[in-house]
Amino acid sequence: MAIVAQKSKIDEIIDEDQKLTRLIYSYIYSSTAWLIFGTLIGLFLALRFAYPDLWVVSVLSFGRLRPIHTNVVFWGWASLSMIGLSLYVVPRTSQRRLFSLALSRQALYVINVSVALGVICLSFGINNGGQEYREFIWPVMLLFALGIASNLFNLYKTVADRNTEEIYISNWYILAAYIWTIVVVVIAYIPFYQYSLGETIIQGYYMHMGVGMWFTPMVLGLTYYFLPKLLNKPIYSYSLGVLAFWTQMVFYSLIGAHHFVFSPIPWSLQTVAIVFSFGMFVTLFAGTANFLLTMKGSFRTIGKSYSLPFFLVGVIFYFLASGQGSLEALRSLNDIWHFTNYVVAHSHLTMYGFVCFLIWGGIYALLPRLTGNEPSHLLVGIHFWFALIGLLVYSFALMIGGTMQGQSWISQAPFIKSVELMIPFLLWRIIGGTFMFLSHLIFAYNVYIMKPAPIMIQNQNQIGDTI
Ligand code: HEM
Ligand code: HEM
Repeated sequence: MAIVAQKSKIDEIIDEDQKLTRLIYSYIYSSTAWLIFGTLIGLFLALRFAYPDLWVVSVLSFGRLRPIHTNVVFWGWASLSMIGLSLYVVPRTSQRRLFSLALSRQALYVINVSVALGVICLSFGINNGGQEYREFIWPVMLLFALGIASNLFNLYKTVADRNTEEIYISNWYILAAYIWTIVVVVIAYIPFYQYSLGETIIQGYYMHMGVGMWFTPMVLGLTYYFLPKLLNKPIYSYSLGVLAFWTQMVFYSLIGAHHFVFSPIPWSLQTVAIVFSFGMFVTLFAGTANFLLTMKGSFRTIGKSYSLPFFLVGVIFYFLASGQGSLEALRSLNDIWHFTNYVVAHSHLTMYGFVCFLIWGGIYALLPRLTGNEPSHLLVGIHFWFALIGLLVYSFALMIGGTMQGQSWISQAPFIKSVELMIPFLLWRIIGGTFMFLSHLIFAYNVYIMKPAPIMIQNQNQIGDTI
C-alpha cells in the first residue's frame, strides 16, 4: 500500500536535554488525553442532533456538553500541544536552552487544572453566561491565563538571551500569539464596559481574536520552523513571511464584528469588518504562497515522509478554509449562511483541517527525533486518512445541508422543513465524526509509542543537530 510502504524512517535522533524532552512529551500526552475526551463529547453531541432522546440527563444536555467540547479542544488539546511544540522551537531557533524548565512544568499543571475545573463547573451548569468560548468562569480562565503568561515569560527570556542576531520568523508569530492571547482574555473577562450591544461587540472581537491571534499565529510560527527543516531547505521568502505577519496583526484585529453582520451593531463597524475580512486574502496569499513555494520541487520528499503530508494538508486548508471565511463575511453570502450549519463546517475546516493537521505534523516530526521511538508508518497513515476523510465527510455534509437550511429560511418555508431537510446531513456528520474520533484513538496510541525511554539511548543513527 502506497500510504505505508514508501515512507522513510527518521534520519536522525536529536541530542536534546532529556528533561526538555520529557517536558515536551508531558505537554503532548496531556493534550492528547484532552483531544480524546473533547472529541468523544463532540461525537456524542453529533449523535444528540440525530437522536435527541439519547440519555436525557441534565449533565449530558446539549447546553452543558457543547461548551465542554469547544473549551476542551481549544484550551486542553490544541493549546497544550502547540505550547509543547513551541517549547522546542523557540529555544532551538534562538540557539539557547529554555530559560526555565520548572516554570513551564508548573504552567502545564496550572493549565491542566484550569481545564479540568472548567469541565467540572460546566458539567454542573456553572458558567460565564452564554458567551461562546468564554463559558469558563473567570477564576478558571485566570488560571489558564497564568499558565500562558508563565510560558510567555519563559519564552520571552529565551529569545531575549538568544545567540542569534535576528529573531527568527517563527518566534515573531509565536511570541505575538502569546502576547495577544493574554490581552484578549483580559479584554474578554473585564466586565465593566460589557453590557447590551457592547457585550456583543466584545464577543465578536474575542471569538475571532481567539482563533485568529492564538491558534493561527501559533501554528503558522511552528510551520515556519518545521517545514523548512523537514525539507532541508530555507523558507522561500522571509519578506513574504513578514508581510503575512503584519497584515495578520493589523487586519485580523479589525474583523471581529463579521460575526454579527445584520445585527443591530453599527453598520459602519460591520462594513469595516467585512472589508478587512476580504483584505485577509493578502495575508492568505502571502502565507500560503510562501509555504507552497518552499514545498515546490520537494513533493517526492513529502510523499516519503509521514509528517510532511500533515503539513501539506494543513497549509491547503489554511488557504481554503480561511478564504471561505472571507466569503462568509460578505453580506450577500452571510444572509444565506449565518446561523446555519455551514458555520459549523467552517469552524471544523479551520480548527481541524488547518490547526490540528499542522499540530499533528509537528508532533510526528519532533517526537520520534527526540525520543528515538518511531510509530508504525501504517498507523500514522491510518490516522492521516481517517482524519482527512472524516473531516471532508463532516464538512461537506454540513456545507450542503447548511446552504439548504439558509435557503429554506429565506424562502420563508415553515421552520420544521429546515429541520427535516438536515436529517441526512446530520447522519453523515456522525459518520465523518466517527472516522475523526477513531483517528484520534490511533494518534493517542502513536503518542504512547513515541514516549521517551527511561534512559535515553543516544548516538543511535547519526545524531543530527539540524531539526
Ligand atoms: C481570512 C480568515 C477568516 C475569515 C475572514 C473568517 C470569517 C469568519 C466569519 C465571517 C465567521 C462568522 C460566520 C457567521 O456566523 O455567519 C466565522 C466563524 C468562525 N471562524 Fe472564521 N474566518 C477566518 C479564518 C478562521 C480561522 C483561521 C479559524 C480557526 C483557526 C476560524 C474559526 C472560526 C470559528 C470557530 C467560527 C465560528 C464562530 C462561532 O462560534 O460563531 N476562522 N469566520
Ligand atoms: C470527532 C471529532 C469532532 C466531532 C464529532 C465534533 C462535533 C461537534 C459538534 C456536534 C458541535 C456542535 C455544533 C453545533 O452547535 O451546531 C461542534 C462544535 C464545535 N467544534 Fe467540534 N467536533 C469534533 C472535533 C473538533 C475539534 C478537534 C475541534 C477543534 C480543535 C472542534 C471545534 C469545534 C468548534 C469551534 C465548534 C463550535 C462551532 C460553531 O459554533 O461554529 N471540534 N463540534
